[in-house]
Amino acid sequence: MRKEFPRLLSEGTLGSLTLRNRIVMPAMDQNNCTEDGLISNRTLQHYEDRAKGGAGLLILETSAVKWPDGATSKHQPSLSSDAVIPGLEKLAERAHRHGARMIVQACHHGRISGLDISRDVPVLVPSIPIPSFDTLGMTYNTTTEELMKMATLTGGKLPTFKEASKEELEGIIEAFVEAALRIKKANLDGIEIHAAHGYLISTFLSRAWNRREDEWGGSTERRTRLLSEIVGKIRNKCGTDFAIVVRIDGHEHGIENGITADEASNTAAIAEEAGADAIHVSAISSSGTGVGFTEGPLPWERCQYSELAKTVKSAVSIPVIAVGRIEPEDGERLIAENNCDFVAMGRQLLADPELPNNLINDSPDKIRPCINCFVCVAQNFWNGEPVCAVNPRLGNYEKEVKVPEKLKNVVIVGAGPAGLECARVASNRGHKVTLLEQMGSLGGTAILSSLTTPKNGDLINWFERILEDSEVVIRKNFLADSKSIMSFDPDVVVIATGSQSSKSDIKGSELPHVLSRDQLKALLQESNSSEVSKGRKNLSFLLLWLGRKSGFFKNMKKIRKLSKLWMPLGKNITIVGGGLVGLELSHFLSERKRNVSVLETRPVMAPEMAHPRRWRSLHQASLSGVKFHNDIQVVEIRKNSVVYIKDENECEVAADSVILAEGIEADRKLLEKFPGIEVETHIIGDAESIGYIEGAIRSGNRVGQIV
Ligand SMILES: Cc1cc2nc3c(=O)[nH]c(=O)nc-3n(C[C@H](O)[C@H](O)[C@H](O)COP(=O)(O)O)c2cc1C
Ligand code: SF4
Repeated sequence: MRKEFPRLLSEGTLGSLTLRNRIVMPAMDQNNCTEDGLISNRTLQHYEDRAKGGAGLLILETSAVKWPDGATSKHQPSLSSDAVIPGLEKLAERAHRHGARMIVQACHHGRISGLDISRDVPVLVPSIPIPSFDTLGMTYNTTTEELMKMATLTGGKLPTFKEASKEELEGIIEAFVEAALRIKKANLDGIEIHAAHGYLISTFLSRAWNRREDEWGGSTERRTRLLSEIVGKIRNKCGTDFAIVVRIDGHEHGIENGITADEASNTAAIAEEAGADAIHVSAISSSGTGVGFTEGPLPWERCQYSELAKTVKSAVSIPVIAVGRIEPEDGERLIAENNCDFVAMGRQLLADPELPNNLINDSPDKIRPCINCFVCVAQNFWNGEPVCAVNPRLGNYEKEVKVPEKLKNVVIVGAGPAGLECARVASNRGHKVTLLEQMGSLGGTAILSSLTTPKNGDLINWFERILEDSEVVIRKNFLADSKSIMSFDPDVVVIATGSQSSKSDIKGSELPHVLSRDQLKALLQESNSSEVSKGRKNLSFLLLWLGRKSGFFKNMKKIRKLSKLWMPLGKNITIVGGGLVGLELSHFLSERKRNVSVLETRPVMAPEMAHPRRWRSLHQASLSGVKFHNDIQVVEIRKNSVVYIKDENECEVAADSVILAEGIEADRKLLEKFPGIEVETHIIGDAESIGYIEGAIRSGNRVGQIV
């Protein structure tokens, strides 16, 4: 049954390949090859999962043609010797076994060759001196721990640059051809030439980086020569039954004379002429800043590069692959509007390898959503293996789901992400599961965060739908205590009641214009908890009124919209606590025309966020006017202001409303709250240790697998 996605699910032709549908998994480093860059069992399992999940085309992560030269990591695939062929053969077999086609992304990483830098080998660039960019860009809003981990990639060394000579370029062209021959020998279906993302070929295409006056620089044709020679020679050697895709930047952000969409179109036309079968349109930022990373190559907005794909498509007659936070309905539309022919979905397929099958089976609502948290790609900054906040299996392939020796009666207390995941997994394994939730809705604090981050709400909706189809019994508005838990006669009890808020000791925190995190949560979750009415009556009751009136608790979309018109909060709002919640709330409120200040004691705001997301969130919030004050100590909340110390100076910020968004901790005394439970007991999620959605899902999954 294929009702909603006729185009996305239709067969497509790419060169000599017929693909079963238009869904492409783009290259995404998994960094799980052996120390010699050979394919490991983990690599095989990762791609096999996605072949099984129904994608039409898989693209193996960026692989180094002259490894270790021009490579970013020891653990990326090496294409520089025949030793890789057996591993590639296995990959081909695993992909083909499930009906997918598979090609390999081949690259020389040029100025970003971490392995060269770590070995004191100068990195290759088209021209010296390199253009100026913000060399400290990645250090802003980055924690010391992250910076130290990033330094491990290059052994703490800084790059030295070398202008690539004619001989070196000819050697690299040859290395691409030899790599292609190995890929073909291994029975894989083709190659993707990585001519994007600031790597060697991309820098040759860019006027900013390539200021040569020889046959490799100057006009578009000469700047494209490195690429077109690689394409032409591979076509010559590998024949027409070998697919050649070229990945280019449709735009180069953040640098003068960077690649434009028109130039990208010219490059695409030249690549077609040289023998390419398809063009894959991504983007890059060369600003050097962290926030630039979310302009390219890791987009933040939905369909961020779709217009670029459309421009390129108008210049070529071969298929175009679009990429950049494209969800299935967008993909269907983009193909219908002739923006592109194929749609690459990267993080969506990390979050849910079964995405294509769910579309094919007419169950798009069963697709586990990617929540755009950047947790996966954060690992690539320090040679780690990506993990996924919502899909614990990513990078965790050794653990097979075990059939339990004995089917048990499992009672889970708390339906936040940890409890939901634990219930899902334990029930899938055959256990009888009862999920108890004291609120009137599922999701725990993820509901609070969905106000500001709608994708988190999508995840909770997904859990609800999946559990609806399961045998899990859900009891909402159930205030559990030991007696009521034991009345279910459980074999196992899992406590997933979330974090507890420590009471603020800031002077003035009891004033009526101060709203605590627990009050916010209680308001959003349709609770009649005493938190709602404690103390701050004016503010709380007004908020509650708004919530009830608008169907707020059922419909976050509505409240996001309505709150743009009216909110029972003053003009000047100070948020105490610049963690994940404080940061996202600040943006939400400033978009609703409030003057928002955020006070944070730590040196970096929201260190718990994956750093690319933190960079973007801080940028967005600052653009909308939020004032961030880090490394400070809050002294007192007054009637109209908050007083804090910065660099030994007393400062004051105006505040008609104050939100306390700090002070959550794992509930260490949890077992004392449930005395007399004498069966197997586990504590998961924030109740065990603060880990946000990622940590909660991981711990829920772990316990769901072992009970
Ligand atoms: C963990 C991770 C690793 C990536 N590695 C590569 C890579 O090896 N080569 C590449 O061209 N792009 C890489 N990308 C970028 C993706 O191919 C893709 O262009 C990007 O994620 C945008 O698509 P999406 O929004 O559908 O995820 C990576 C992305 C992620 C999330
Ligand atoms: S880690 Fe986050 S961004 Fe990456 S795939 Fe998973 S949900 Fe999406």
